[in-house]
Amino acid sequence: MAKSTLSFVCQNCGAAYNRWQGKCESCGEWNTLAEEDTSGSVPVSIRSKRKGRTFALESLSGKSPDAPRLSSGMSELDRVTGGGFVRGSVLLVGGDPGIGKSTLLTQATSLLARAGHRVVYISGEEAVAQVRLRAERLGLSDAPVQLAAETSVEDIVSTLSEGAVPRLIVIDSIQTMWTDTVESAPGTVTQVRASAQALIRFAKKTGAAIILVGHVTKDGQIAGPRVVEHMVDAVMSFEGEGSQQFRILRAVKNRFGPTDEIGVFEMTGLGLREVTNPSELFLSERDLGTPGTAVFAGIEGTRPVLVELQALVAPTSLGTPRRAVVGWDPSRLSMVLAVLEAHCGVKLSGHDVYLNVAGGLRIHEPAADLAAAAALVSSLVNAQLPTDAVYFGEISLSGVVRPVAQTPARLKEAAKLGFQRAVLPESARGETGGDAGLSLNAVNSLTTLVAEIAARGSRRGESNAPAEKNATPARFRRGEG
Ligand code: TYD
Ligand code: MG
Repeated sequence: MAKSTLSFVCQNCGAAYNRWQGKCESCGEWNTLAEEDTSGSVPVSIRSKRKGRTFALESLSGKSPDAPRLSSGMSELDRVTGGGFVRGSVLLVGGDPGIGKSTLLTQATSLLARAGHRVVYISGEEAVAQVRLRAERLGLSDAPVQLAAETSVEDIVSTLSEGAVPRLIVIDSIQTMWTDTVESAPGTVTQVRASAQALIRFAKKTGAAIILVGHVTKDGQIAGPRVVEHMVDAVMSFEGEGSQQFRILRAVKNRFGPTDEIGVFEMTGLGLREVTNPSELFLSERDLGTPGTAVFAGIEGTRPVLVELQALVAPTSLGTPRRAVVGWDPSRLSMVLAVLEAHCGVKLSGHDVYLNVAGGLRIHEPAADLAAAAALVSSLVNAQLPTDAVYFGEISLSGVVRPVAQTPARLKEAAKLGFQRAVLPESARGETGGDAGLSLNAVNSLTTLVAEIAARGSRRGESNAPAEKNATPARFRRGEG
């Protein structure tokens, strides 16, 4: 008889404990432990008696059939997957509820079905009628997608084993699936893991590509799909600010492609629209002529993306000034602020600092340092930066502006969008190939840039700081003010 083993499993990371405790020692989350039956999918009695079977060992150099890809027909989606869905692979699409995962996958499956592939959409969350309603809204009702509202993994696997192997199966969402082989309730880590395992086995066996949808919740009530992340071939996250129209699909892990590409979409009344030129989108609502904004020439994967950084530096009434940042790494902001204080004499300890990346984009590149610094100083001295300039460069702790990769691509994109000049690292000037189409303002230290921006401030009629003489204008100098 199968012996049931009860243990306490962290719903965030999947670590198991014998006793209940308030905090998970593995991931540090509080109140995430729930009692689960972890006896596993095979009864103990069978497990212990089963004799191991032998299998053939292969060599590394052996020939494997190519991983044929199935293009989704959406170029932004293909860009993130690395060229299409790979046969027999399992992809997890995570994201906040309501961000548009079901919409994206309805569109992708419909396009594939129209192209003549067998595509199955299993919804565990919505009734068939609701999925149909969405398809109708998207104008995709005529697509021959095979649809079902089911949650039992065994039933799904048996149904899909019949007939031609589907090219793509969408499971929306993995948290609603359950399997008979484990006793825990649907939505618990054990269930999610066992269900994912069964589906992954099916994908590998038949060669069908499977997309699992996973909700990311912060309260730990529904098991986060984190436990599934290491089991699947690729993990994509679908991000965006609720209030904004832009949605960004980002590869977090990809066994068959790059992980630094992003796909940009815009949520419209008629579903998701692909945005093939994100720079135009992120710059479309620029506050031209406002102090505190700088355009960063960034790279997302292989594609240059221009985006506006907005800073607000305001005197604080608090003992500990606020530092808030949206879309960028808070520790990079702290670093830039520290360098500004230590090497450029810009005193910010009495100011609240807010930094925002426009359009809901999240930047991971250190190359944004220079643009962030420019925006911060511009806001502090209330001096508008040139509206036709882009900024990029990494700032080292010593205040030196260091070169970054792909300078020519950044400059080309800026020139394409009508920018006239680029502020870039001195050492990157050589890489530009001479005819960048922009006038280049190479800076080798942050101090130079700060002085230039401060000079613009004083030129606008402010009374202080003879910036031309000193690298650091008087109002910034330490020990003053
Ligand atoms: P949905 O795909 O259901 O999100 P998820 O599956 O990630 O939970 O999308 C939900 C939101 O998208 C909903 O608030 C309405 C909006 N939406 C549109 O704006 N336009 C559309 O054409 C569709 C289908 C949805
Ligand atoms: Mg959904």
